[in-house]
Amino acid sequence: MKISVLREKRAGETRVAATPETVKKLVAAGHTVTIESDAGKTAGFLDSAYEEAGASIAKDAASAAAGADIVFKVRGPEKDEVAILPDGSTVIAQMEPFALDPAVVSALNAKKIASLSMEFTPRITRAQSMDALSSQSNLAGYRAVIEGAQIYGRAMPMMMTAAGTIAPAKVFIMGVGVAGLQAIATARRLGAVVTATDVRPAAKEQVASLGAKFIAVEDDEFKAAETAGGYAKEMSKEYQAKQAELTASHITKQDIVITTALIPGRPAPVLVSEDMVKAMKPGSVIVDMAVTQGGNCPLSKADEIVDVGGVKVAGFSNLPARLPADSSSLYAKNLLAFLPLVTAENGSLNLDTDDEVVVAMLLTKGGETVNERIKS
Ligand code: NAI
Repeated sequence: MKISVLREKRAGETRVAATPETVKKLVAAGHTVTIESDAGKTAGFLDSAYEEAGASIAKDAASAAAGADIVFKVRGPEKDEVAILPDGSTVIAQMEPFALDPAVVSALNAKKIASLSMEFTPRITRAQSMDALSSQSNLAGYRAVIEGAQIYGRAMPMMMTAAGTIAPAKVFIMGVGVAGLQAIATARRLGAVVTATDVRPAAKEQVASLGAKFIAVEDDEFKAAETAGGYAKEMSKEYQAKQAELTASHITKQDIVITTALIPGRPAPVLVSEDMVKAMKPGSVIVDMAVTQGGNCPLSKADEIVDVGGVKVAGFSNLPARLPADSSSLYAKNLLAFLPLVTAENGSLNLDTDDEVVVAMLLTKGGETVNERIKS
């Protein structure tokens, strides 16, 4: 197959969908790989390294995409990018399926382009190596703590010096999925005293195993808050009120709060109200990782640090792009692991499969929107 990798065009996107390491493996598997010139530059992968790995370099996106069977991207294509993709080709990317632009869907269908969304990789054991949500959230959770520590005007670990003792930072992680668990581990490594909360009971043991303290309203609703897919449900108004009361008393003692709470396909739950922010100590920091899904804190703004009476509320819209070499490496490996699922024995593309992973990820095919989760 001819696989093309385009340079990401969206503002602030520094990642790339293939690395010299994955290109080498794709070429060894018999594929032809074309990379748009400078596609990996912002992640530290130069054209020369791709060439050495066996790729050819195309001078622009249109010539890179020409004749492609499959196009690898980090972010889903915008409408003008769809225009350069060959009719009947296949694009694999993080399509942001719940925020898909209908104009992009129409453009894909008009050209009978098949699109597969990496976010819809099922959370099953077989697909773990393909799970881009996990690979990117893990790094984002790490980076959120690093950013929070950077904004915070004090040290993270306890320090006993001749001039006096510095108390360790108190870090509170809200939402303990993939990102939250890595945030706990990172904050602990930096020497902070860490507490964490979630609505899923399974999180309790995971938090304890990382050496942090679990704080949550553990009523009957909490005991049933996890869906079969492992995600959180949207909680009732009553639960939210009890949770807010608990958070309000805990948060005033915290130095850094990292919020990661998400509900697939729904706006992020509000966990830190304006009043809670105002009750925090000046100098404290909130990093809202849910900012692009509406935010866990109503005061957060994408890619801004808002000062609320000395409390800094930071909203990074794309944390994985702040460590592009690692996030690209892992994402490229996710794609590499997925490719055999759509490759026939003779090496050609095969989307006519009933493999549950492919079926779950396929959004459009043959001119139609085929995914039930985005149809309505
Ligand atoms: P996510 O990004 O959808 O949400 C982040 C966290 O926010 C979740 O832990 C969720 O429970 C929590 N949350 C939602 N509403 C909340 C609220 N009102 N208050 C406090 N916390 C709230 O979650 P992520 O990281 O995608 O993980 C979802 C699940 O998938 C987890 O159970 C995780 O262990 C599981 N998983 C399974 C994999 C596999 O089996 N292959 C791979 C990766 C994750």
